[in-house]
Amino acid sequence: MCGIVGYIGGKQAQQVVVDGLARLEYRGYDSAGLALVVDGKLATAKKAGKLVNLRKVLEEEPPPASTIGLGHTRWATHGAPNDPNAHPHVDCGGRVAVIHNGIIENFAALKAGLLEKGHVFGSETDTEVVAHLLEEEVGAGHELPEAMRRVCRRLEGAYTLVAVDAQDPDVVVGARRNSPLVVGKGDGENFLASDVAAFIEHTRDAVELGQDQVVELRRDGVTVTDYEGRPAEVHEYHVDWDVSAAEKGGYDYFMLKEIAEQPRAVADTLLGRIGSDGRLHLDEMRITDQQLREIDKIIIIACGTSYHAGLIAKYAIEHWAGLPCEVEVASEFRYRDPILTRSTLVIAISQSGESMDTLMAVRHAREQKARVLCICNVNGSTMPRECDGVLYTHAGPEVGVAATKTFLTQLVAVYLIALYIAQVRGTKWGDEVFAMVQLLATMPEKVEKVLETMGPVRELARSLANERSVLFLGRHVGFPVALEGALKLKELAYMHAEGFAAGELKHGPIALIEEGLPVIVVVPPRAREVLHDKIVSNIQEIRARGARTIVIAEEGDDTVVPYSDTLIEVPAVPTLLQPLVATVPLQVFSCELATAKGHDVDQPRNLAKSVTVE
Ligand code: AGP
Repeated sequence: MCGIVGYIGGKQAQQVVVDGLARLEYRGYDSAGLALVVDGKLATAKKAGKLVNLRKVLEEEPPPASTIGLGHTRWATHGAPNDPNAHPHVDCGGRVAVIHNGIIENFAALKAGLLEKGHVFGSETDTEVVAHLLEEEVGAGHELPEAMRRVCRRLEGAYTLVAVDAQDPDVVVGARRNSPLVVGKGDGENFLASDVAAFIEHTRDAVELGQDQVVELRRDGVTVTDYEGRPAEVHEYHVDWDVSAAEKGGYDYFMLKEIAEQPRAVADTLLGRIGSDGRLHLDEMRITDQQLREIDKIIIIACGTSYHAGLIAKYAIEHWAGLPCEVEVASEFRYRDPILTRSTLVIAISQSGESMDTLMAVRHAREQKARVLCICNVNGSTMPRECDGVLYTHAGPEVGVAATKTFLTQLVAVYLIALYIAQVRGTKWGDEVFAMVQLLATMPEKVEKVLETMGPVRELARSLANERSVLFLGRHVGFPVALEGALKLKELAYMHAEGFAAGELKHGPIALIEEGLPVIVVVPPRAREVLHDKIVSNIQEIRARGARTIVIAEEGDDTVVPYSDTLIEVPAVPTLLQPLVATVPLQVFSCELATAKGHDVDQPRNLAKSVTVE
């Protein structure tokens, strides 16, 4: 939440910062602002609303040229999303400018102390205390890096901070505790940002900052220390995607591009993991085969869409690997007393690797001595560094706030892990694992096939744009698919949407069915006869009560035709893999319906892509 950019070099900082913010807007779009250092003074501009509003301000009143600056795009926590609360925040004398991502938990006490000393505040934010604390430190003669270290030692909570001092045009300083911050190393210029996307057009050489580190960015170098000023170890890496991956590439929305990229994303996530002998090789997981043999229970923790991937993982793990598997919303996990031992494998699923709820659950699990593996899409993010092992999804950058291609690649990752555990523990014969892996390898073309037939789904979505409510039903792995379909519709179309296990319907939710209510039903493959026939009965039950049935079933499934007001066919695949094809129409449906309502599907209201506060 909140996007941060800092720049020092030879280019126009305003341009670099605003372009960087445009690539970080997915992190929050309640307001945007920037500060430049100009001849011993700060030039600041900030505006509530999306970045476009700030751009207008900058066009109307262009700030003076500068080669050092910082910028911020906000997802509001403390204080309404208005102009005064927009970042950057400055001190009383207008000498120091600060931007912030996270929450400073002890801000009230710090603010009270500063008010007593006569500091004047211009916003309701927790961030502003940092500007005034820095004011005191630079006022006492400390250079900005040391001032930042001294201030950070007093802060509690999770935060990333970046600051400039008008009286020192040669340094940008950043600090990191929990919230993400990466350095981009250029030639005679350096960058700081919440995500490499902000500087990818300038450099692909990045430095991942660790916990409780302060970075000093100068034109000719980068110095990282801990909060005591001792040199800190950092991890340098090269970003393996380029600027085109972070652009819309001719699509109206990132989400449309990301939906279309799914066949490639699925293929890339499989790449290099299937040996020529048909065996799976997941050495990068950093968990040994012996350790996997010792596991007696798996717990999956995740949020939102990643949680839905976790629910599907449970079916795959229990079926293939024969291990008990629990799935829990990460924000609940550490507030009960989960029973964890050294033989528990915790799998954290997170696209961003930064969701605070999941990160805290990971830390809790590690404190309880469980082994923790994460499935993550972002190299250089926090979770892979803090877990025992990681399996990266190779979806490429996902900019749309609604997760699409990363969900499909998370599914691929959980299938790979489940099959790998089965291979290692011998719970399935080698040829059974091989056969399933071969089927997995055909999934990119199956997903492609679904995408080619989405015309009627788009038409259907447009016809339902004025509905007030849509229900989603599924059984087995179709149930998490239903939940995911409902989440997509809620977050993009702002409509009432709910997913249910079809078997639960008669236990209450069936009371919601009324004449004409659209109900989308995910039907399992015919091969799972019992499941299949039960859901066909459920379709009849809701239809008898007036529901408008929209049925997603495998191609050639004639049994559902009489009960489907609309039939969406997907390629025939084994039951466990069906979410890979059945989710795609639901993504397209929500995207199209939301677009028909005039919504910006890349930036739905109230949301941010990385939820870095609890
Ligand atoms: C999905 O469309 C959402 N934007 C959201 O539920 C997301 O999946 C969730 O916040 C978890 O994020 P993560 O995977 O980055 O941890």
